[in-house]
Amino acid sequence: MNIVMTGASGQYGRAAIELLLQRMPAENLILMTRTPTKLEEYAQRGCRIRRGDFDDPASLVEAFKGADRLLLISGTRVGKRIAQHKAAIEAAEQAGVKHLVYTSFIAITKKNPSVAVQDHLVTEDMIRASRLEWTIMRDAHYADAMIVNAGPNFIASGVWASSSSPGRETLVWRDDCVECAVAVLCGEGHERQIYNITGSELLSLQEVCETLSDVTCRPIQWVDTDDEGMYAIFDAMGIPREPVDDQVVKGISWNSDDMVTFERAVREGYFSVISDDVERLLGRPPRSVRELVEANVEMLRAVPPMPQP
Ligand SMILES: NC(=O)c1ccc[n+]([C@@H]2O[C@H](COP(=O)([O-])OP(=O)(O)OC[C@H]3O[C@@H](n4cnc5c(N)ncnc54)[C@H](OP(=O)(O)O)[C@@H]3O)[C@@H](O)[C@H]2O)c1
Repeated sequence: MNIVMTGASGQYGRAAIELLLQRMPAENLILMTRTPTKLEEYAQRGCRIRRGDFDDPASLVEAFKGADRLLLISGTRVGKRIAQHKAAIEAAEQAGVKHLVYTSFIAITKKNPSVAVQDHLVTEDMIRASRLEWTIMRDAHYADAMIVNAGPNFIASGVWASSSSPGRETLVWRDDCVECAVAVLCGEGHERQIYNITGSELLSLQEVCETLSDVTCRPIQWVDTDDEGMYAIFDAMGIPREPVDDQVVKGISWNSDDMVTFERAVREGYFSVISDDVERLLGRPPRSVRELVEANVEMLRAVPPMPQP
């Protein structure tokens, strides 16, 4: 069986490649990227590297040829990626892919104000209407995004401002999401299944802030703000409101429309979803936010404080 993966050069993709290589021969793994040199190390390990771009539908058909299963890792243009996902689904049909596994998000409803969720809602509908077999992995908020990516900023500044209170959500390790997707890709009987890949505890981001501060022994002040307050913070950091491809500003690669509408959805309780699907797929419970902080404690404790003005 051949598996093709989009987003192979990203954080999710690289973690998935490593797990897949433990379970299948490298020549059965096809990795898609816009820039093949990024994946040279995997070419040397025997994987097939193909050029493909969500914005160039013909390239997707070529990239997917010969694959039985496709791991479609959702694109990064959050709020504007429906055309990209549509192109990928149509290309999979044309290329003869049989089964598509898609990385979606939890709490997919029309009322959910998160622009990221609205992308996934339309994409899921397109997948279900396609001729493909499918499995949808509805991943919760990656704990890594708050602890590993944003955590150093909170620690350096000593402040975590958020408009998410009083909502609670269930953060999950990205590696747990990857392990579940790989179990599905390499397993049988997952056709037409939707899995909710969540942690096992509902937490407010204020509680996450307290855990981060506790474990690292670094003071972080929690500051409640509103949507306008969040936009003001992101504007001051130079983060664009709308998606801009491949941009990373101060370690944050997302646009503020995404982040502000996401925090609103947390505040309004949309992401209070807990499932035991991780345990059902992996035979073990999901790892916790505290364990992720502990796993990264050396890096987090070493973050220098921001110079005071
Ligand atoms: N659940 C959550 O909380 C959460 C949080 C963050 C992200 N996510 C989702 O997870 C996905 C993967 O995240 P990540 O951290 O692995 O992202 P990442 O490290 O930023 O990698 C992004 C990947 O997207 C690919 N890509 C971007 N534009 C593309 C295009 N036009 N055509 C083809 N490929 C394109 C890049 O491929 P090349 O540059 O090699 O072409 C790269 O491999 C995200 O896109 C997002 O949907 C979920």
